[in-house]
Amino acid sequence: MSNGTTAVRAFAAHEAGGRIEPFDYELPPIAGDDVDIDVEYCGLCHSDYSMWSNEWGVAAYPFVGGHEVVGRVRALGPEAKGLEVGQRVGLGWFSRSDLMTRESLGGDHNLSPGNEGTIIGRHGGFASVVRCQSVWALPLPDALSVEEAGPLFCGGITVFNPLVQFDVKPTDRVGVLGIGGLGHLALQFLNKWGCEVTAFTSSPDKAEEAKAFGAHKTLDSRDPESWKAAYGTFDMLLSTVAVDLDWGRLVRTLGPRGRLHLVGVSPSAVPLHVTQLMSNQLSYSSSPLGAPAVTARMLDFCARHGIAPKIEVFPMSKINEAMAHLHDGKARYRIVLEADFN
Ligand SMILES: NC(=O)c1ccc[n+]([C@@H]2O[C@H](COP(=O)([O-])OP(=O)(O)OC[C@H]3O[C@@H](n4cnc5c(N)ncnc54)[C@H](OP(=O)(O)O)[C@@H]3O)[C@@H](O)[C@H]2O)c1
Repeated sequence: MSNGTTAVRAFAAHEAGGRIEPFDYELPPIAGDDVDIDVEYCGLCHSDYSMWSNEWGVAAYPFVGGHEVVGRVRALGPEAKGLEVGQRVGLGWFSRSDLMTRESLGGDHNLSPGNEGTIIGRHGGFASVVRCQSVWALPLPDALSVEEAGPLFCGGITVFNPLVQFDVKPTDRVGVLGIGGLGHLALQFLNKWGCEVTAFTSSPDKAEEAKAFGAHKTLDSRDPESWKAAYGTFDMLLSTVAVDLDWGRLVRTLGPRGRLHLVGVSPSAVPLHVTQLMSNQLSYSSSPLGAPAVTARMLDFCARHGIAPKIEVFPMSKINEAMAHLHDGKARYRIVLEADFN
């Protein structure tokens, strides 16, 4: 540190989809309600891949990804509340909210206008240090594994949040589309929530493991013929896929008042006609990650029920290999990068 600045060692791509190389930069002196976190582990989400390759057109270069961080508080700004230096925390997709908006005042910081993302317009957690606002650095319960917990702060809360927002009941029948980083956590949450859970997977080798995660049944997500047995049965379909599926046909698997809920970023518009939704009073929705309070509830739920991501650990210096592993659909089920800067 010099002049109060903090030297950060990171990994960055300098162009869309370019090789990720060591990259050093300086954070300005810490101020306000900021927190600096010494990164220990950071999960690799499909959204890091989409940002790195600039699929969504919002990436800036040099690009430092990483928004499933676990580490220790390194420094606190003078207005940072509720945390201590050395404490273990986690950080997800959001890194700053205006605390005085109607949404934040109501507890919905995740819906607050002008939210800043951890990897949009700033550098993320594939680094030795990452900075965020204190409200978004959540204390990690002692019962959770430091190595495994990172993916809960994005993948986990993204699929836990809809259970809270849409009042999913233990008697509900829920289908999860795509058993990857998000999907394998959704199966665990829904099973412990009490639901009847069906995993839709395109990978035959995942079927048995999907059951171990909590699925009661499995279906082939690429074979619409196999869905016929499920027509009219689901209260919710939770999609975590980043591809286009036959949505019109999937909607036929919903029962009355059923909901098609997409958290995965499918590339094309979803072609649904109002008449498909009308007669059974169906809903179509989406949601971002959850608010800090819902995230804290999720962490407690994980601690109580022994829920954890199934991870593969790569050294952060092997990030290019890790990206390729994710892209090739080989991750089982979430890659976590261990910071190896020393
Ligand atoms: N809403 C939010 O705030 C939010 C937060 C985090 C992530 N996301 C988005 O959620 C999506 C999933 O992220 P993730 O990290 O879980 O990705 P992931 O680990 O790559 O999992 C996606 C899964 O989709 C399935 N899939 C892949 N290709 C397929 C195909 N051609 N046909 C059918 N299924 C296919 C695979 O599961 P099977 O092998 O079981 O088929 C794969 O494991 C991404 O779009 C990501 O950007 C959104």
